[in-house]
Amino acid sequence: MISALFLVAVAALSPSSTSAFAPITSGRVSSALQMNPFEDFMKNPFGTVSSVGGSGEKVAVIAGATGYIGKSTVRESVRQGYKTVALVRDKKKVESEEGKQLYATFFEGADVVECDVCDPENLTEAFKEISSRYNGNIDAVVSCLASRSGIKKDAYAIDYQATLNCLESGRAVGARHFVLLSAFCVKNPWLQFQQAKLKFEAALQEQKDMTYSIVRPTAFFKSVSGQLEVIQSGAPFVMFGDGEVTRCNPISEADLATYLIDCISDKSRLNKIINLGGPDEPLTMKKQGEMLYAAIGKEPNFFYAPLWLFDVIIDSLQWVADTFKSEKFENAAELGRIGKYYAVEDMLTTDPSEKFGTMTLQEHYNKIAVEGQEYDPYTTMFAKAPAKKVEEEKVAA
Ligand SMILES: *[C@@H]1O[C@H](CO)[C@@H](O)[C@H](O)[C@H]1NC(C)=O
Repeated sequence: MISALFLVAVAALSPSSTSAFAPITSGRVSSALQMNPFEDFMKNPFGTVSSVGGSGEKVAVIAGATGYIGKSTVRESVRQGYKTVALVRDKKKVESEEGKQLYATFFEGADVVECDVCDPENLTEAFKEISSRYNGNIDAVVSCLASRSGIKKDAYAIDYQATLNCLESGRAVGARHFVLLSAFCVKNPWLQFQQAKLKFEAALQEQKDMTYSIVRPTAFFKSVSGQLEVIQSGAPFVMFGDGEVTRCNPISEADLATYLIDCISDKSRLNKIINLGGPDEPLTMKKQGEMLYAAIGKEPNFFYAPLWLFDVIIDSLQWVADTFKSEKFENAAELGRIGKYYAVEDMLTTDPSEKFGTMTLQEHYNKIAVEGQEYDPYTTMFAKAPAKKVEEEKVAA
């Protein structure tokens, strides 16, 4: 009990574990070598899809390019034959020795442009330059932007305002189609970042200059594999309630990237909102735990944390926040609510038209059990293997 309390409290309070448990608040900048599930396929020369012109005349601009999904989306865009512009905040970081290691797989063949999506003037200028470089022909703007933490300030700055800046800049140069990486969970919004995402979705649907596709993925693989290092170290797999409260079918970053880029040319996805999950049947948290133990070849060892813990923690934090008008505690309470959200809500699609991709979660688990996984400080409290953290700090420095 104490340890569960501690886990949840740490999740809620630690600024570096801000989107604890959150399947969909993707970090914009991830930090270690990413697995490359499609590597063999990528080396295949038929990687250029003829339906998009093959000659590479079509142009796609990717915002949030260094994020978990953004990186894969840049790679997929290049693979499909688009002239691909990757917007990054700090080009030096991408081109440094460490950056090369991190991004070479993903950014090869892409045109990397440094700009600040939070600065509308800078962004508009950047889009003008991109547009003139490509003869005024921008086919699509693909936004993979997402706030790291999910707290109110970040959510409105990134999920709403920065994404809106991309839309406005795209419109200003006559870009044709906007592909938005949103989140399944906005359909039942009780969190700040969900409200921010919905506010942008509304702005996107209201304007008439660009067509759009809004893709709302259920959950990311990295969000449901965060406990790998924990159980490898011998600690139990933590789940909430009886471990069967919620179900999900997460989607791999490569499959999601394919879906996002396909939206540029697939007319059936024009001006649509699409919920999207991976190929798995509904997976409970307990099932995920069993699969993870199967992957590392150990006997399952589960710890069941009661759901009421969330309420105790959230209510306490909120009480402090209200009593002392503390933004810090307000944020901590919101992070607690984010944790609770994913402990009680399904992130699941079952309609065949809302399931996509080939990689199953067990395949992902088997892979990371051998190769390890990308360290991402912004997704889950669990993925904090000390060795990888050192690597991360080296990269950040
Ligand atoms: C926008 O700002 C970035 C730095 O964030 C700078 O490198 C770039 O040149 C600026 N772009 C324009 C078009 O002003």
